[in-house]
Amino acid sequence: MISLRTATASSLSILFTIIAVVFGAASYLFTMNESGDFLDLQQRQIARYVGDLTFIAPDRAALPPHDSEDDYVIEVSYADGRVAKSSDQSIVIPDRAETGFSEFSDGKREWRVFSIITPERTVQVAQQMAVRKELATDAAARATIPFLVAIPLSWLLVAFVTGRIFRNLEHLGKELSLKATMDAIPVDLSTMPREVWPFVRSMNELIARLAVALRQQQMFLSDAAHELRTPLSALTLQIGNLSQSRGPDLEERLSELRAGARRVSALTDKLLKISRYEGEPLAAPTQVFDLTETVKDVVSGLLVAAEEKQLDLGFAALADGAWVRIDSDDLKTLIETIVDNAVRYTPNGGAVDITVKGGASPLLIVSDNGPGVQEHELPRLTERFYRGSGRGEGTGLGLAIVEAICDRYGLSLKLINRDDGPGLLVTVGFPAP
Ligand SMILES: Nc1ncnc2c1ncn2[C@@H]1O[C@H](COP(=O)(O)OP(=O)(O)OP(=O)(O)O)[C@@H](O)[C@H]1O
Ligand SMILES: [Mg+2]
Repeated sequence: MISLRTATASSLSILFTIIAVVFGAASYLFTMNESGDFLDLQQRQIARYVGDLTFIAPDRAALPPHDSEDDYVIEVSYADGRVAKSSDQSIVIPDRAETGFSEFSDGKREWRVFSIITPERTVQVAQQMAVRKELATDAAARATIPFLVAIPLSWLLVAFVTGRIFRNLEHLGKELSLKATMDAIPVDLSTMPREVWPFVRSMNELIARLAVALRQQQMFLSDAAHELRTPLSALTLQIGNLSQSRGPDLEERLSELRAGARRVSALTDKLLKISRYEGEPLAAPTQVFDLTETVKDVVSGLLVAAEEKQLDLGFAALADGAWVRIDSDDLKTLIETIVDNAVRYTPNGGAVDITVKGGASPLLIVSDNGPGVQEHELPRLTERFYRGSGRGEGTGLGLAIVEAICDRYGLSLKLINRDDGPGLLVTVGFPAP
């Protein structure tokens, strides 16, 4: 895992090192250059002031330790070419025609000479090229010393500063983990450095969303346990009654028991379904189905129940082929739940109409002429365990499952009371397959 502290410290150190090296090199080159000019200036001044001075042989012992190689060689000669005075007679400086700088070699060493030529005399001041070069290099090297010292200093400084900054962040993390209970959320931004606000803000949002989901799960669990308890207590009671039953009474008790067991297993089926739809990530369905065919299948399964209630169960397909891309079991569950509601809540002798509209975006419309629901109940019908004021014997999970399926596949679900008379009108819109 990357460490922000190491990344910041190393990039700052590299940056400072590059700056120091570049400036050090620039200073070296600049000083080298300037030293040449400076040495030339010195040579010119010596030549100018040397004039009539008498050279006194230096008492070398009295002078500070000194390398005589470094000395200037000064020579004064008359206009006719005779040497009047020379500081080192072993060096013969070639004559020049005019005032100015020149270079010569005495066979072993290279020299740079400045000559002042007047009608009376010629003054020449010579210095070894190697000495000049050494002086310039020494000066240039000394000029880079501050930059070389600055490099390790900058590293220490960077380590110190980044250490301080990131210690604040670490401190913040520790503080957060200490008060990391749901009650301490949202974390107060005003005590945080501004830079971490976006991070803390999204953490706050995420934790708030998680808290809502957690509360919903807790409610679902307690509702589910509560819903299971009622039929299970009934079952326990019925089993108790069985032990005293004989003959035809036994048969009646047994069928009650079977009905109770069926209710429990229907409820657990629905609980499993809803947890599956809300939990599993969606794998894109690969097959397309004809909505009309699936509706026909489902309707034939509900014919017996409809006949028992003498319901007029009508089906109309308004176009050939209404293709939808959705898992066939999920499609069946969706249609079954909606049509089952219509059949169940419409009183005897009523009518249920199922219409399939084909085209680019197919529609499934289920309407009945039952009681419908009160307007304020409409938005709550898809809540888990909501059974409406009628409180039939259903589990209240049917439409919650329908909504979960619609969310999974991006279908639209509309539940309204019919405006042309009593009854509920349910419309499911499918996207183009
Ligand atoms: N066609 C309808 N006519 C009138 N009321 C309806 C209709 N469909 C649903 N409802 C109301 O909406 C409530 C919720 O329906 P939902 O299908 O979610 O649960 P349920 O039918 O009670 O139980 P089940 O899980 O067994 O389907 C029902 O209890 C009922 O009051
Ligand atoms: Mg239902």
